[in-house]
Amino acid sequence: MARLLLIIGGGIAAYKSLELIRRARDQGHSLRVVMTAGAQKFVTPLSVGAVSGGPVFTDLWALDGEHEIGHIRLSREADLIVVAPATADLMARMAGGHADDLATAVLLAADKPVLAAPAMNPRMWAHPATQRNVAQVAADGIGFVGPERGEMAESGEAGLGRMAEPMQILAAIEAALTTDQPLSGKHILVTSGPTLEPIDPVRFISNRSSGKQGHAIATAAARMGARVSLISGPVAIPDPAGVTVKHVESAREMLAAAQSALPADIAIFAAAVADWRTPDVAGEKIKKAKGAPAPHLNLIENPDILRTLATPGSRRPDLVVGFAAETEHVIENAKKKLAAKGCDWIVANDVSPATGTFGGTKNTVHLVSAAGVENWPELTKDSVAERLMQRIVETLEKARTPK
Ligand code: CTP
Repeated sequence: MARLLLIIGGGIAAYKSLELIRRARDQGHSLRVVMTAGAQKFVTPLSVGAVSGGPVFTDLWALDGEHEIGHIRLSREADLIVVAPATADLMARMAGGHADDLATAVLLAADKPVLAAPAMNPRMWAHPATQRNVAQVAADGIGFVGPERGEMAESGEAGLGRMAEPMQILAAIEAALTTDQPLSGKHILVTSGPTLEPIDPVRFISNRSSGKQGHAIATAAARMGARVSLISGPVAIPDPAGVTVKHVESAREMLAAAQSALPADIAIFAAAVADWRTPDVAGEKIKKAKGAPAPHLNLIENPDILRTLATPGSRRPDLVVGFAAETEHVIENAKKKLAAKGCDWIVANDVSPATGTFGGTKNTVHLVSAAGVENWPELTKDSVAERLMQRIVETLEKARTPK
């Protein structure tokens, strides 16, 4: 049973917070609620107080009321602070370290974990300013749940920006409260999916990666209590819950996103990065001309994200794990890759078409490290992810045990 401090931001999703309060109380948690001025335009402190069974705090300056306590105490007397809905404006103010109302002052004074459930119009979510603020807030150590893809309250609007459902937020609350989880306090960077390299406005070079393995790893890491930054190429699967996801297209974007997610304790490179791109992306669609020869694609090599981030230095994660997608001599090639990329482990898998690995749900992998080769049986991608994270936990524990 935990003491939760819920901060309700000023968005239409504020109505869902009433349900969240009810569900959290059903679980035995106690709640104090702070509402921003905007939040009070959507739901009243009266209804929030009725559902939460306690006082509702709205004013940084009014400390004379019977129930009023200062923002420092509000912040200290909670086990977890939950911001739901976390609006674009509230996150901008969090990113900037503002403290000009009760919500932001409480957040700035916080010495406890903070979980944010963003909710806004998809265009507002996708705006570079919001993405910049989200990255900053995540780098400051705040956890995220959602946003989800779907219909917006405004009619005709759909996309990424819906607040996670109350039960999903509650699951993230439970995960954030379980501090004895094996990976709590660790930041794990994961790359996943293919990259897409444009040729012209309609054509591109890419590959068959579905992102299922990388996303399963991000999910498993989050479930074990890690703070997870997932950098995903274009995939058709949903974002994992409780994970900060950055969507990118090209290898160069993936590299930049991975670098800006540092520092990380562990980095796992499961993405199938396109090895080449064309340097001369056509501004207009390349047209066929009668009798003219087929166009010649000039290809240059993409940056190697794994090798770049595995380079020794202060920003190198303690454990760097690469994948090796091979169609022949799987282990031999994986051993070469381990040395060439400078990583600590390689998860090698056979992706020849007969195995059905690309796009499928199963995977047969070999874990290759300086210590040797472990051959794992055929497993679902979810089980490969669980087992990989389990091996990581064992390794961290061994490193902690005094010799
Ligand atoms: N990788 C990367 N950046 C690249 C290429 C690969 O980060 N530009 C990473 C992959 O995410 C994976 C590992 O390097 O963890 C190996 O990827 P793979 O495609 O198997 O190997 P390549 O380096 O592309 O070598 P080759 O295509 O010759 O097998």
